[in-house]
Amino acid sequence: MKQGVWEKEYRNVDNLWGFTPNNMLSNYIDLVPKSGKILDIGIGEGRNALFFAKHGYEVEGIDISETAISRCLELSKEYNLNIHAKVDDIREYNIKNEVYSLIILSNVLNFFSDNDISEIITKLKNGLKENGLVYINVFDNEEPSIAKAKERCKQVADFTYYDEKNKMYHHYFTQDELENLVGDYKTISLVKSRFLDITHGQPHYHSTLEILSKKTKA
Ligand SMILES: C[S@@+](CC[C@H](N)C(=O)[O-])C[C@H]1O[C@@H](n2cnc3c(N)ncnc32)[C@H](O)[C@@H]1O
Repeated sequence: MKQGVWEKEYRNVDNLWGFTPNNMLSNYIDLVPKSGKILDIGIGEGRNALFFAKHGYEVEGIDISETAISRCLELSKEYNLNIHAKVDDIREYNIKNEVYSLIILSNVLNFFSDNDISEIITKLKNGLKENGLVYINVFDNEEPSIAKAKERCKQVADFTYYDEKNKMYHHYFTQDELENLVGDYKTISLVKSRFLDITHGQPHYHSTLEILSKKTKA
């Protein structure tokens, strides 16, 4: 079978994303009920999933990369944690209705078409319990790597580029757009950052938006 671009990325190195969870998630862990289940979409090697599982949570996750899932499961086994992770494509995955207290989309949503993004968000919202939380972390439209996307890919919509070679999209979010995705939820935290990433490869800058929101009737 032809390896996808993510599988190749993982096979190139022993660990791609490190083991530090996203700050916003660790800062707000107390808002997630201990009895609640967590779903990590695009779980990768599990830096966020492992963090929550070590704090006693039951975590489910999917990822399109076999290598990412097997690394995550090996670590979960080594530490005897409650993580159920499997290889799947979020575009085809059926999220169970009203099951999760937290759904995580960490550095994942940038790689889909506008249509896929809206379908993923609809499924995610259906999957959350009342008072459940959604965490989304994305590159915004000031992300420096947008220059590469402009050079190498075909522009198909505002801030959306299609990479023909790797058959994937790169979409860069405006703040309004990210807020509107969860506009019917209560915002707990919204942070825009520009920072030097020294966790992998040559040091490079990123420009990101992070949001944590609560599904609530109030
Ligand atoms: C930038 S990595 C982030 C990994 C992890 N969430 C983290 O923050 O460490 C993006 C992840 O999304 C996964 N991914 C990409 N497309 C996917 C799809 N269609 N379905 C499921 N996972 C996907 C990739 O394999 C990769 O692990």
